[in-house]
Amino acid sequence: MNFESKFSVTVNRIKSNIIRELLKTATAEGIISFGGGIPDPETFPIKKLSEISNEVIMNEYKIALQYGSTEGDPELRKQYIRLLEKYEDITCLDEENLMITTGSQQALFIIGTVFLDEDSYCAVSKPIYLGAGSAFNQRNPNYISIPLEKDGMNLDILEKELKKLDEEGKIDKFKFVYTVSNFHNPAGITLTLEKRKRLIELAEKYDFIIIEDDPYGALRFEGEKMPSIFKLNKGERVILLNTFSKVLSPGLRIGVIVGNKELIKKMVLAKQGMDLCSSTLTQRITARFMEKYDLFEEIQPTIKLYKEKKDKFMESLEKYLGDLEEVDWVRPEGGLFSWITLPEGFDTMEMFEIAKEKKIIYIPGETFYVDEPERNTMRVSFCLPSFEDLEEGSKRLRATIEEYAKKKGLPLKIK
Ligand SMILES: Cc1ncc(COP(=O)(O)O)c(C=O)c1O
Repeated sequence: MNFESKFSVTVNRIKSNIIRELLKTATAEGIISFGGGIPDPETFPIKKLSEISNEVIMNEYKIALQYGSTEGDPELRKQYIRLLEKYEDITCLDEENLMITTGSQQALFIIGTVFLDEDSYCAVSKPIYLGAGSAFNQRNPNYISIPLEKDGMNLDILEKELKKLDEEGKIDKFKFVYTVSNFHNPAGITLTLEKRKRLIELAEKYDFIIIEDDPYGALRFEGEKMPSIFKLNKGERVILLNTFSKVLSPGLRIGVIVGNKELIKKMVLAKQGMDLCSSTLTQRITARFMEKYDLFEEIQPTIKLYKEKKDKFMESLEKYLGDLEEVDWVRPEGGLFSWITLPEGFDTMEMFEIAKEKKIIYIPGETFYVDEPERNTMRVSFCLPSFEDLEEGSKRLRATIEEYAKKKGLPLKIK
């Protein structure tokens, strides 16, 4: 049978996930990968989780192995409210302000379903978290791509674009700004307090919602913790997305949406048609884990490890790339990523072939754009490679850049 005529316009619009394809081809012996954005499995609390899982299955099977409510396990929502109070100083929330999702990825899909139509507009960062792009693309909205600077989105450009939409009479079609406020994936950047406040002012002036996606905020290893945009706005027009993927385990597939009750109700409707409910088993395990242990105390050793790796990586990049002009990288204060920019004319996707030969893997930056990409960028993650590999990988990166420059006749200026 020829299936072509049967596929929907939506599914035909979906491109394959380039990161997965690239990583699939890069599995040879001795490869050092800066590619993966996944936590170090050695940081998973396996003993504690296996004990709790056993207890939950034995003692709470009537709930944990049964269907649950679409909104999510009340025990988990209760624990999460406690956590937000303790660590984010966010008070006055009750269970109806929260919905549990199957990872934050589902939350992004729900956001797309609830807010976006083909004639809608939304603003996203340039570069954007790939998974958000995939989720929103299904709704085929109009994107306004806002360049990221060292201190977050360029809000002057955002304001200009909003003004333009207003003048064209289309501002009611503008739904939200999507932002990863802390240690951005892929760019490692954090939105400053000033910009957080200004973004709220713009949201009030132009009447839009802010989607604050914050999987990495708890992984701060230096610098001052900042209030979430959600906290600053008292949750009025901000929807906060969180996940246990980077602080406990991505295999649990647990995310949390925090927001206005009216919005949560709509999101529950959207989720019902997707999976009825998230895993009752992993929700209850997570709830009991949070009840028994202080989640943030538990991740302190992980944060310490990531900080040491980040320091080693920054030192290695300085050693091997520091003398190159027009080569720069983000020095993150937390999270898993840095973002390297090479001189104009470099194409990191094309350069990937040489990188593979030299057994070093990164993610070419062009995968993180919903419109015209910048081709001279790359995402590099420091959480998985060993300390030796962070150094050796940086050395190989230098060799890759040199060989590519030579092959393409690109000048590689030394400072
Ligand atoms: C910015 C951002 N949002 C959402 C997600 C999705 O996380 P999960 O579905 O595992 O909760 C990720 C995962 O890497 C991410 O980096």
